Amino acid sequence: MKNDRLRAAIVLGIGFASVAMSALLPVRAMAQVSVDDMAWAYAISPAVPQVPEDGTRHSLPGSNRSFTRSEIRNFFGPADWYSEDHPAMPPIVATGREDAAIWACSMCHYPNGKGRPENAGVAGLREEYFIQQLQDFRNGLRTSAQPLKSNTNLMAGFARAMTDEEIEAAAAYFSSMAWTSWIEVIETDSVPKTRLQGGMHLRLEGDEAGIEPIGRRIVESPIDTEATEVLRNPRSGFIAYVPVGAVAAGQALATTGGGKTIVCSICHGEDLQGLALVPHIRGRSPSYIARQLYDFQQGTRRGVWSPLMSAVVEDLSADDILNLSAYLASLAPSP
Ligand code: HEC
Ligand code: HEC
Repeated sequence: MKNDRLRAAIVLGIGFASVAMSALLPVRAMAQVSVDDMAWAYAISPAVPQVPEDGTRHSLPGSNRSFTRSEIRNFFGPADWYSEDHPAMPPIVATGREDAAIWACSMCHYPNGKGRPENAGVAGLREEYFIQQLQDFRNGLRTSAQPLKSNTNLMAGFARAMTDEEIEAAAAYFSSMAWTSWIEVIETDSVPKTRLQGGMHLRLEGDEAGIEPIGRRIVESPIDTEATEVLRNPRSGFIAYVPVGAVAAGQALATTGGGKTIVCSICHGEDLQGLALVPHIRGRSPSYIARQLYDFQQGTRRGVWSPLMSAVVEDLSADDILNLSAYLASLAPSP
């Protein structure tokens, strides 16, 4: 690609800037963030048995298709409710490859690449970045700091089983779609009571429903539980409740460094929409963002380009990670 040399120069430049800046930061004790402080972001819970198939065909407004529960969650060809929302999917995205036990990417990340809080939004990532991440997963350089996060392990297994051609096809597909808004951030002192299931916070219903203090958590939950959990509606988004003041505190840290980190726009671009090989971080799931910051800090995400993030994360406290995640999620995907 003709921009390769320019990109390499920018990334190298960024690398030097990062080393130089980390030398300027005051020496301080390594932040001691425990994985329990981050429990809201990993949302680990015991596995819940699937509701048995009863043969009912489900439908969604605006879709002329209908699917049974088992069709909706068919690992090797899940429901594609709105094929008009995305280009034609390459086979690896639409069906995966059953003989190699690779699930369809669209099963977890949805056909439109918007993903869910427990996995990742992958639409709009640049191809080079996307490919590098799959290489990192494949080479054991990208694992979760929470060993119980089984879907990240599944992800790494798929990357190991994929051919280079499949990786390229998936990267070209997801990068061809823009990242668009689907997470609403609300600052609040109290939140609907939720339970953890499948790596997500689901609102309690009926007699169990109620309100509780948010505490030092982000509670990211489907706007419509049934639409997300049962039907996997790729047009039904999420609400992220965040503590009052988190967005402003995160903004201060992101834009000044606050003496403990590096201004994010230096590498992620002026408006955090991504720069050269560095990914966009605006308007993405705060649970996902927080897990990445923690995984970088703990050194379980240590891919080829991850060293550029080390000085950024090493002194962040659990609150800093929460605040940065709230701020980034609150930004509209395009400025
Ligand atoms: C079982 C669900 C699941 C399936 C199926 C799946 N992924 Fe993932 N994917 C994940 C999870 C979980 C993560 C990482 C989340 C974390 O650790 O916080 C992830 C992360 C990623 C990322 C990194 C995104 C970023 O911003 O760095 C890419 C790229 C990706 N997946 C591509 C794919 C491709 C291509 C396929 C199809 C072969 C696929 N995934 C199938 C669950 C899945
Ligand atoms: C010195 C350059 C640099 C600075 C400064 C920087 N980043 Fe990054 N960031 C990167 C690179 C490079 C990656 C990709 C790392 C990889 O591939 O492992 C990245 C990745 C990330 C990711 C993971 C995105 C994804 O899709 O998985 C998050 C989240 C992130 N950065 C947040 C931040 C925040 C918040 C700040 C500011 C407080 C910041 N970064 C400052 C270079 C930087």
